[in-house]
Amino acid sequence: MSTHKVGVGRAHAKTILFGEHAVVYGAPAVALPLLDLAVTVRANASGAPDGRVALTDAVTGEQAGSTDRPQQLDPRLHELVRSFLRTTDLGSPAVDLGVDCAIPLGRGLGSSAACARAVVLALADLFDRAADAELVFDLVQAAERVAHGSPSGVDTVATGSPGPIWFQSGATKELAIGIDAVFVVADSGVSSATKTAVDQLRRRFEVEPAAKVRFLQESSRITAAAVEDLTRGRVADLGRRLTDNHEVLRGLELSTVETERLVTAALAAGCAGAKLSGGGLGGCVVALVEQPADVATVTAALREAGATATWTVATERFSG
Ligand code: MEV
Repeated sequence: MSTHKVGVGRAHAKTILFGEHAVVYGAPAVALPLLDLAVTVRANASGAPDGRVALTDAVTGEQAGSTDRPQQLDPRLHELVRSFLRTTDLGSPAVDLGVDCAIPLGRGLGSSAACARAVVLALADLFDRAADAELVFDLVQAAERVAHGSPSGVDTVATGSPGPIWFQSGATKELAIGIDAVFVVADSGVSSATKTAVDQLRRRFEVEPAAKVRFLQESSRITAAAVEDLTRGRVADLGRRLTDNHEVLRGLELSTVETERLVTAALAAGCAGAKLSGGGLGGCVVALVEQPADVATVTAALREAGATATWTVATERFSG
């Protein structure tokens, strides 16, 4: 009996806790993985004579690039597959990839980086190639560059990280967590392209260079203090920093009516702090809840305020 190997790759969503946008200019950021919101890719050598790469949405059965409705499957993943095969000297074997992605697109949850990472890992598994961190980073970053223009790399790392990370200019540190609390991530239901938000900010900073300096100083200060709070177990302080970071991003017109409504509702429901997360102009907010008993209240308030989906991440998952 011949065995037909299937290569499997997995990656997860992430939420940015501190420092989004500033991280694009070399300031630090903190990101939290959403380990249960994931993408799995299964890769088969199809044996088709033409070296064809087929990418299929494992849930809907749609082929990448075959419809004109907003797609979960980015047709540009084809180029990523070719880059992998080129980099690893595999020639041009025909490959079928099935992508099962639960991470909604365009919500600042890192779906593009996670899909790209899972594709690379599935191919490495299929062809028995070592998927060392540097190779994966380079390939996923190249794919992210096509999708987003000038990605900092935080999504590329966080979508494969088992715990919260500090990230700056390509350097990563895993963070030890000293708090016992729950992060609630809520989707505003509004999709937006990270590239649009990054470009909008860049244009603003071109005409207001002093605003850029102020922003980078503020964001770096908040992020550094937040890392201390996170590791030393100061939940209330950490919550205030989230809200402070939100105010800074709101001042740059990255929040929307929908995300404002969510942040306001979460704060009114008693969370320790809340902010938009990721590129902004839609997407998700993240709220910090100190008491597990309050998670249901804050989640209900977010739903009431328009959240289309929520996810919770208990920090105990990362401690010890
Ligand atoms: C996107 O998750 C975070 C941004 O800072 C963009 C980036 O870091 O590449 C907005």
